[in-house]
Amino acid sequence: MKEISQVPSLTFLAKSRQIYKDPLPFHRENFQKYGNTFKISPKPGLMIHFTCDEKITQHILQKNQKNFHKSSLQTDDLGKYIGHGLLTENGEKWRANRKLIQPAFYKKSINNFMETMDVVIQEELNRIQLGAITDVYTIFNDLAFKVVARSLFDFADIDDLDNKISRLQYITEHAQKMLIKELRIPWMKWYFDREWLSGRNSVPHALALVDEARGILRTIINNRRESDKEPGDLLDMLLHSTYEDGTHMEDDQLVDEILVLFIAGHETTANALSFAAQLMAHHPGAIEKVKNEINHVKEDTLMRELMESPYLKQCVEETLRLYPPAYVTDRVALEADQCAHLKIEKDSIWLVSFYEMHRRKDLWESPEQFIPERFTPEKAKKYRDFYFPFGAGPRMCVGNNFAMMEMMLVIRRMLEQFEIKTVQGHIDYHPLITLKPRNANLIFHSTMNQ
Ligand code: HEM
Repeated sequence: MKEISQVPSLTFLAKSRQIYKDPLPFHRENFQKYGNTFKISPKPGLMIHFTCDEKITQHILQKNQKNFHKSSLQTDDLGKYIGHGLLTENGEKWRANRKLIQPAFYKKSINNFMETMDVVIQEELNRIQLGAITDVYTIFNDLAFKVVARSLFDFADIDDLDNKISRLQYITEHAQKMLIKELRIPWMKWYFDREWLSGRNSVPHALALVDEARGILRTIINNRRESDKEPGDLLDMLLHSTYEDGTHMEDDQLVDEILVLFIAGHETTANALSFAAQLMAHHPGAIEKVKNEINHVKEDTLMRELMESPYLKQCVEETLRLYPPAYVTDRVALEADQCAHLKIEKDSIWLVSFYEMHRRKDLWESPEQFIPERFTPEKAKKYRDFYFPFGAGPRMCVGNNFAMMEMMLVIRRMLEQFEIKTVQGHIDYHPLITLKPRNANLIFHSTMNQ
């Protein structure tokens, strides 16, 4: 058995300020020093194993996935705000719900939402101010939230739907910000827990908001049940799906699953789109190639052919390689185990870095460069074992087809309507729960004036 190298606690402590701001250079430094797996003890009694090893990752997420559960960071800390849906559950409950929900995300199901998606996308892109420096994250964040919301509730009769969606967006984003504060500044817990002290910055306030969101969702579900309409949206599909024993999902569970879809589905996509737009603006040659490709796709066959626009797809795939929004994931070993001559202890915590795996020099040629051509269908096969932007195994992202379709449609519509220009030479990021863009500033000009 090989020993896993441990980063000295003093080194960790000395760098804690830098790690707090941006942990990625620290991860890289240690992978370079110790190899593809190392461990850190950030405080007594806690040991975290970091890996960007493809074999260990496959072992944890695919081959022996039954022995690895999500850690309390996802099940408890995130679960406290968004309840217990797919993202935050383990075991049998997760399996049964995944089986019920998954068909709603099959390619043939999501084709039904494509037109709604397209309407939302065009509405949101129309809000872009020409000639002004625009942080595209703000545009794509609203856009991605609305796309998930309208795919869930494509129902013209919901009273005041736009206001309800805005409120849900405000609440889910507020809850996420609160969670980040709790995780990143744990020593302020006494302050955050006392609403009379911290007011709108408090955990009880955030939890009360989430209760309000649950109320909104319950009203939407009840109204739908009472109406005789079947608009064929995601809510419809979930209401009609059954478990193996023929029963339907309880309303409280449905509310949690919808909250999970909002959280899991909007920020990741918004991040990816912001990185994609910046990468493309930095690579005008790639924009030209996409434009040549999409010019041949006619509006009446757009929905069918979009997914077959190979170069556009490659640009999205390359973006997700360089800036995987879910840049890490974690698991806990239920039992002692072993893989690739490494001992995996019972209860040990494993943090898989997709970000580092996607940039390993021994796996990728010129890994820091944006080269969409590496994902041509013939070449892409060789990356199957170490390219995991949507995770791997049975817990792989349930919304991956949805996200790919959305991102490709947004980029197509954006390039049809706008010339995009960079205002800075580099791409900045901010690793929080997801890998977020920072200062994603671009300038948009209309293609009509060209
Ligand atoms: C670019 C966009 C997206 C990326 C990069 C992404 C990435 C991921 C990853 C890596 C996981 C697995 C996490 C793990 O194994 O610990 C995951 C899970 C999940 N994603 Fe996504 N995702 C995206 C978009 C979406 C969308 C649009 C939806 C739904 C509308 C969605 C819903 C979910 C759900 C529900 C899970 C939990 C699945 C389970 O555990 O069974 N995601 N996502």
